[in-house]
Amino acid sequence: MIRLDGVHVRHKARSGGLLRRDTVHALTDATLEVKRGEIVGLVGESGCGKSTLARVLTGLQKPTEGEVRFHGRDLWEMSAAQRRDGFGSAVGVVFQDPSTALNPRLTVRRILRDPLDVHRRGTREEREARVEELIDLVGLPGHTLAALPGQLSGGQRQRVAIARALALEPELIVADEPTSALDVSVRAQVLNLLVDLRERLGLGMVFISHDIQTVRYLADRLAVLYLGRIVEEGRAADVAGAPVHPYTEALLSATPSLLETTERIVLTGPVPSATNPPSGCPFRTRCWKADEVCATVFPTEASGPGEHRWHCVHPQSPTSPAGDPAPVPSARSTA
Ligand SMILES: Nc1ncnc2c1ncn2[C@@H]1O[C@H](COP(=O)(O)OP(=O)(O)O)[C@@H](O)[C@H]1O
Ligand SMILES: [Mg+2]
Repeated sequence: MIRLDGVHVRHKARSGGLLRRDTVHALTDATLEVKRGEIVGLVGESGCGKSTLARVLTGLQKPTEGEVRFHGRDLWEMSAAQRRDGFGSAVGVVFQDPSTALNPRLTVRRILRDPLDVHRRGTREEREARVEELIDLVGLPGHTLAALPGQLSGGQRQRVAIARALALEPELIVADEPTSALDVSVRAQVLNLLVDLRERLGLGMVFISHDIQTVRYLADRLAVLYLGRIVEEGRAADVAGAPVHPYTEALLSATPSLLETTERIVLTGPVPSATNPPSGCPFRTRCWKADEVCATVFPTEASGPGEHRWHCVHPQSPTSPAGDPAPVPSARSTA
């Protein structure tokens, strides 16, 4: 359905002083495909480029370099009108914080009708009916339509944001940390709603989270980002069950599930700056397996069964996940 090919996003930042402008490498050489009806989970620490990737996938951010194809057509070769009508309506977005994503002065009814009005969907009566249908779809009572966002709870607001994302019957929903601003008590409900909707509506979904444990069971495939790079990607069961990249292993062990007995890997040292990423593999400054080779070039792609791909010269053996006991990592400081 949608495919990114060698996508880079670089920002000019003002951090370099009055005349100098540093380059922020928000996303580097990202290649990713989302198939129809599939859930792709995107995980990584704060600042690694998840939201940037979400913005590229939804056409909000034009890549500095690389291609975005939607059903084979290059998004940025289309006219602005084609992009808005053909692509904009096919992709819905749900952001992290529903309190800032919804206009506080509009009623829920207006919020949900807005995309239908903008895209001139159906008659006035049909739009009204669609709004009723949408609020029902996300499990909110009809009287919610008369409310302002400020009168709703965080969980209810996120349901409204999901309903709005569904208004134009998209093929894909990109949900950027949709539960991290919510109370722990309602997170599971919102997650379940999204999974249920994808089943009922046959949507594709890109589900972004900083917590790999949250997405591993709901995603079909997982992509792991580190400092703007996709370092591992594959079926969720493979990536989370038999991680190959040390970073994926570290993410999994940061919040171990009860069933696993793997030794905890604690990452030491700060995440390097995206304005000046380390040479070679960006993870090498925190990796317990890193050596001189890792500092020279970014590792080329290696792959295993089931389209499992990774970029690492010292991979954990993909065929014997339990074979190599996790070594106690040594503290490394950034170069
Ligand atoms: N508009 C921008 N200008 C400059 N730097 C940016 C901009 N947007 C994002 N960044 C930087 O790009 C990197 C990736 O950011 P982001 O995609 O928001 O990460 P995440 O969502 O994983 O936390 C960060 O270093 C961030 O500071
Ligand atoms: Mg983000």
